[in-house]
Amino acid sequence: MNSSMALQLYLCAVFGLASLFVARWKMSKKFRTSRPPPGPSGWPLIGYISILWERKPWLRFTEWNDVYGPVVQLKVFGKTIVVLNTHKAAFDLLCQRKNVYNGRPPSILISDMLTGGLAFPLVNYGDLWKRHRRAATFVLNPRAVEQYHGYQEHYAEQLARSLLKDPAAWSEAIKGSLYGLFCSIGYGEATKDRAAHSIRDFIGRIVFAAIPGSSITDFFPFIARLPSSVSPLKRRHLAQFRADNKEFVGLLSKLQNDITAGDTMVSGLSGMEDMTVDERAWVIAVLCAIGGEVSSSVLPTFLLAMALYPDVQRRAQLEIDTVVGKDRFPTFQDRNKLPYVQAIVREVLRWRPIGPIGFPRASLQDDYYNGHLIKAGSIVVPNIWAMNRDPVLYPDCDEFRPERFLDFKHDVPGALGQGHVSYGFGDRICSGMHIANDALFINIAAMLHTCDIGQPTNGTTLTKDVFEDFGVVTRPGVFPCKISARKMDL
Ligand code: HEM
Repeated sequence: MNSSMALQLYLCAVFGLASLFVARWKMSKKFRTSRPPPGPSGWPLIGYISILWERKPWLRFTEWNDVYGPVVQLKVFGKTIVVLNTHKAAFDLLCQRKNVYNGRPPSILISDMLTGGLAFPLVNYGDLWKRHRRAATFVLNPRAVEQYHGYQEHYAEQLARSLLKDPAAWSEAIKGSLYGLFCSIGYGEATKDRAAHSIRDFIGRIVFAAIPGSSITDFFPFIARLPSSVSPLKRRHLAQFRADNKEFVGLLSKLQNDITAGDTMVSGLSGMEDMTVDERAWVIAVLCAIGGEVSSSVLPTFLLAMALYPDVQRRAQLEIDTVVGKDRFPTFQDRNKLPYVQAIVREVLRWRPIGPIGFPRASLQDDYYNGHLIKAGSIVVPNIWAMNRDPVLYPDCDEFRPERFLDFKHDVPGALGQGHVSYGFGDRICSGMHIANDALFINIAAMLHTCDIGQPTNGTTLTKDVFEDFGVVTRPGVFPCKISARKMDL
């Protein structure tokens, strides 16, 4: 082969390769720009609307994982919903691409009207969220929550005693105690009763407004956008917001001159000068509201699990009897010596995550994942239920088996060492996870120490079916169970 032939061949090879790359690049670009993630087609205009009324949408999403894969897209009334079914997809997007997925979908009724854009868990990514999130982290980081251990131990002891006094009223006892705890931590003992009353009232209205179909604005969203001069509904909601705002600011100012306020969130936030008084008042009210409501909704799952799995209960009681004895209540000093009780806390959260599809996110810009386009403004939903039931990580996933966490060596991406993803992901992971773990641990330890929890004596048999599912929340309703005193020397 002479040198000009060699050059020709060389140039052919270079051009051949170059055009192959260009063709592939063009193809992949076309591929990237046009294809949304796969998913069910639904009806014209209304899309897959029936998902709004599914009692357990997470089960449908989990089925779709087998049909469409880990990332599924559906349309509802023109809105794009993207479901993330696996740890990998949730970690890749919600933890690794935080700047794209840190948003929250707009909710005119709850976020804009009922809470005036001041409830930071609901607001979109931006300066207000950053300020409020920083404030919440300041009062709820792992070091800060240690200062509330005294409150936690006191309330857990009181709750265990009141369960024994009136076992049939366990549901209200738990609710009252957990709201009392969080409002004491928020505002101090002197103000906690008034705060708990106002905050329970407030959260009741928010929970009701969040049920799909509970407001006319769910069917006719334009009503929420009308000016208040022509919308009595909007006037009513805005008046309610002003009343709540006045009350929350009132609770805050009541405390500011109270030297007995001590280790409270109010005193913790008093130095935050980049926040207005209204903003501080709302951060504290929101944390007390979520803290009281969510943790009191998780403890009934523990009661149910103990009634259904007596061997687990016996093993935990044996551990507590050995470490704590029978003449005092458990404290946080005992925690490291009670690994099985700690494992129960994790298993309660994994087995029945209170939010099986988390708290929806919004994508802030167009993004590509595995060659699919996720459009800006999509509602992104992590299927926490499916992830917490990954059969490789959690064999017999539907069984309540705390021992799975005793030697849990798996790395659950994004779980920050919790072993489950019930607290969510990335920068918007639950702000209250440390105080929640504390509250669950100390209450569970106190109840196991003091009470035997069993099947009801009225002839009915408890099953796992007592869960009430509200579309985004699952928790047991009020069910009968037997709570009796263990032999103690207290
Ligand atoms: C008891 C168990 C609890 C569970 C399972 C839980 C779960 C969650 C989940 C799934 C999210 C959404 C995270 C995301 O978007 O990825 C969240 C957010 C949040 N949680 Fe919790 N939570 C619990 C308790 C608490 C408590 C006790 C507090 C406060 C004292 C709290 C305060 C918050 C706040 C403020 C947010 C919003 C964070 C943000 O948007 O930046 N949670 N929680």
